Amino acid sequence: MQSIELPEFINFDFNLVETWSGRISLLIVDKKLSSTGVRLNKKMNGALQRAVESKLFDDLKEGEGLVLAFPTGLNAESIQIVKLYSKSRTLVARYCGSNISLFKGDSDHLLLLGSNKIMQEILFGFSLKNYRFNTYKKSKKYKENFKIFCMVADVSRATEEAKWYHSVISGTYFTRDLVNEPANILGTVEFSTRLQEMKHVGLEVQILDEAELKELGMRSLLAVGQGSESPSKVAILKWNGGALDIKPLILVGKGVVFDSGGISLKPAGGMEEMTMDMGGAGLVAGIMKTIALRRSKTNVIGLIGLVENMPDGKSQRPGDVIKSMKGDTIEVINTDAEGRLVLCDLLWYAQTSFTPSAIIDFATLTGAIIVGLGHENAGLFSNSDKLSNGILNSAEIEEEGVWRLPLSETYDRLLKSRIADMANVGGKTAGAITAAKFLQRFVSSGVPWAHIDIAGVAFLKSSHRYGPRGASGWGVSTINRFIIDHIENKKDSKYG
Ligand code: BES
Ligand code: ZN
Ligand code: ZN
Repeated sequence: MQSIELPEFINFDFNLVETWSGRISLLIVDKKLSSTGVRLNKKMNGALQRAVESKLFDDLKEGEGLVLAFPTGLNAESIQIVKLYSKSRTLVARYCGSNISLFKGDSDHLLLLGSNKIMQEILFGFSLKNYRFNTYKKSKKYKENFKIFCMVADVSRATEEAKWYHSVISGTYFTRDLVNEPANILGTVEFSTRLQEMKHVGLEVQILDEAELKELGMRSLLAVGQGSESPSKVAILKWNGGALDIKPLILVGKGVVFDSGGISLKPAGGMEEMTMDMGGAGLVAGIMKTIALRRSKTNVIGLIGLVENMPDGKSQRPGDVIKSMKGDTIEVINTDAEGRLVLCDLLWYAQTSFTPSAIIDFATLTGAIIVGLGHENAGLFSNSDKLSNGILNSAEIEEEGVWRLPLSETYDRLLKSRIADMANVGGKTAGAITAAKFLQRFVSSGVPWAHIDIAGVAFLKSSHRYGPRGASGWGVSTINRFIIDHIENKKDSKYG
């Protein structure tokens, strides 16, 4: 597991700045030197002022930085100056933090962010970008025992304000850790163990085993895992932060720890990426961790389906007919369209065992969503404009891409089966939509429901603004924001 690199807050002390032997980052707001900047500039014989007036600095975008190495008059190894304006808002501040974390080195790092109101947002961007998954690497580029300090005017206030951000970063790191783990390390059993450990943050955790799932009638979910040595499991995570009569929001996650395709085996190229097919489960786990850490005042339930899709003598076959928990039969045309077989039973369970205010499911469900939206946006499908708009609004605030796609009735006929109530695939066209239509068959019409296909956004091939390549942790911020703005603060009375 990765430790969270949060800076330590220390009291402002110019003597310490002067004698600091590592790296220093300094904010330049509105191209003016702060009082610390003026003092540093004096020590540096005016070099700081010259840098601020240079074309190099002028060409920087808001939030970007410039590094001056071995500054005269100071003890420091290097000093980074970062451009910001007093009108800069949240998202620029996060970008600024992400740029500060690009100031690499292996010496202690001192952040001089002053008493800037958006300091916490800067640190948030910094920590998101600073994430590494180095568990299995022998050599590390930078020694990892350097420390990060943030000098502030009021240590206790800064520490208090950092708690909220820390909860979101912890949740995002948790999602990234889970999604980055290979399948030989994180099978269904190990995943459920990591979920059990969440009891320490105050979540109620229950794990259902195969016998219990059979008893409940989750044959569709069980059919996916029947070719694997790893037992299928369902995890139920409960956060009871609100009054008993507040209906819970239910978050459902696809947790296919490895998706080989099953008997409809995937081609070899890129198959290794299918260790991330538990991205929906990882996301639900991360959101639950965040809301528990910040002691959310509402009720949320996470339902996670853990299975492995493998070819074997016991695997389900193309052509098999299975009976879902709802009672509808499904003809399995393609065993690689397994995510929907897991989710349909979880959706039905969510509605029959609880009284949800709304259900949101998350899944790395289709390659088709990547064809349509690339890696910039997750695909959103919903039977409720209110729920959908709430999610879109929260995603915009948190700068995470989501795009709504249609769920029109006309797509439904593509799921017709010759011998069963439905087929598990809908043919060559509109693959992400037919997958969503399949799920909708398991949602009663009065229940607000959203399905988010995160196949394109959960795992990225190159590094990005807020993190390295690999698991992105997409969605923890958005759904946490949704819970705060649209449930806890009751902007929207329909949920919660
Ligand atoms: N897990 C995959 C979808 C996926 C693809 C996730 C690429 C992340 C990256 C899913 O189970 C799958 O295989 N879907 C098939 C469905 C098809 C057989 C109808 C697909 O999209 O090809
Ligand atoms: Zn598949
Ligand atoms: Zn899959």
